Amino acid sequence: MANPLQLRAEVLANHPEGAYHRLVLHAPGVPQRVRPGHFATLAVGGPGSALVLRRPFAIHRADPQAGTIELVIAPKAAGSRELAGARVGERLDLIAPLGTPFPLPEQPVSALLVAGGYGSAPLFALGAEIRRRGGRIGFVLGAAGTGGLYGADQARALTQDVLLLTEDGSTGLAGRVTDPLAEAIRAIGATVVYACGPMAMLRAVSEIAVAHEVRVHTAVEEAMACGTGICMTCVLPVVGEDGRSRFVRSCTEGPVFDGARVRWADIGSVPDDLEGAAAMGGGLR
Ligand SMILES: Cc1cc2nc3c(=O)[nH]c(=O)nc-3n(C[C@H](O)[C@H](O)[C@H](O)COP(=O)(O)OP(=O)(O)OC[C@H]3O[C@@H](n4cnc5c(N)ncnc54)[C@H](O)[C@@H]3O)c2cc1C
Ligand code: FES
Repeated sequence: MANPLQLRAEVLANHPEGAYHRLVLHAPGVPQRVRPGHFATLAVGGPGSALVLRRPFAIHRADPQAGTIELVIAPKAAGSRELAGARVGERLDLIAPLGTPFPLPEQPVSALLVAGGYGSAPLFALGAEIRRRGGRIGFVLGAAGTGGLYGADQARALTQDVLLLTEDGSTGLAGRVTDPLAEAIRAIGATVVYACGPMAMLRAVSEIAVAHEVRVHTAVEEAMACGTGICMTCVLPVVGEDGRSRFVRSCTEGPVFDGARVRWADIGSVPDDLEGAAAMGGGLR
């Protein structure tokens, strides 16, 4: 797990971008600890609020010189809507960085970075780091419609290998990120895929990568309560290197997992063959 700080971060800017809001937060001491794939949690609602749980968000950018981190927020329900409406000068209770980041290749590699919607937020810093290490990158970014795509210009600033898809065909190709994935892997000779987005997308991306014998690292978005490894809310079944499956906390061991090891079909259930799970079974089914 990362080495997080808790502090009251000042909102320096709140930029509406398509369907999202990009929050720039002054969080001294945090940016130098951030690696691509880390996330932050924010308290919502203020003291006495019924919104007890912090809300987790991937860290989009971290600037050690400016002492800032940036988050991309999709206003969905009470907590995220409040954060999307944060005013400049407001202070937000922040814990960051959290989680285990994307593994970085030792050698220069060709990597395909695949995202659905705001899932792209942590991938640009990752792409820049892979390039800095002499690697090649390509992006496949998708969303339901144009407003849901995030960061096409940031992707183009890093590489000319950018494929955009929308399900309604309003921007780029019509379809889902998985449609051209096999071809995109071949086109840039990718040996590793990094993916972030909805669970169903991550499952499909992992299956395609495995079928093409390409490594796949997925940043999952499992519901979280504590975000720090205490409550076991965020567990999902993962096959260990010893071949045995265990529930693994996505807030500490994740959110990045080897997509080939996640038992996507069993997420949300308690399979009998999980280490330790059979003993809990009677009470949970
Ligand atoms: C690692 C990670 C990265 C994320 N990155 C982003 C991002 O970059 N941008 C973005 O817009 N969103 C991101 N999300 C999703 C974001 O956290 C949720 O959309 C947000 O928490 C919704 O809050 P809400 O109050 O609007 O919604 P609500 O649905 O009202 O509240 C959701 C709250 O309930 C909790 N919750 C839901 N189900 C359960 C459960 N079964 N048990 C316990 N608690 C539960 C959630 O953790 C959350 O705190 C990320 C989530 C994770 C886990
Ligand atoms: S959210 Fe509590 S252990 Fe992961």
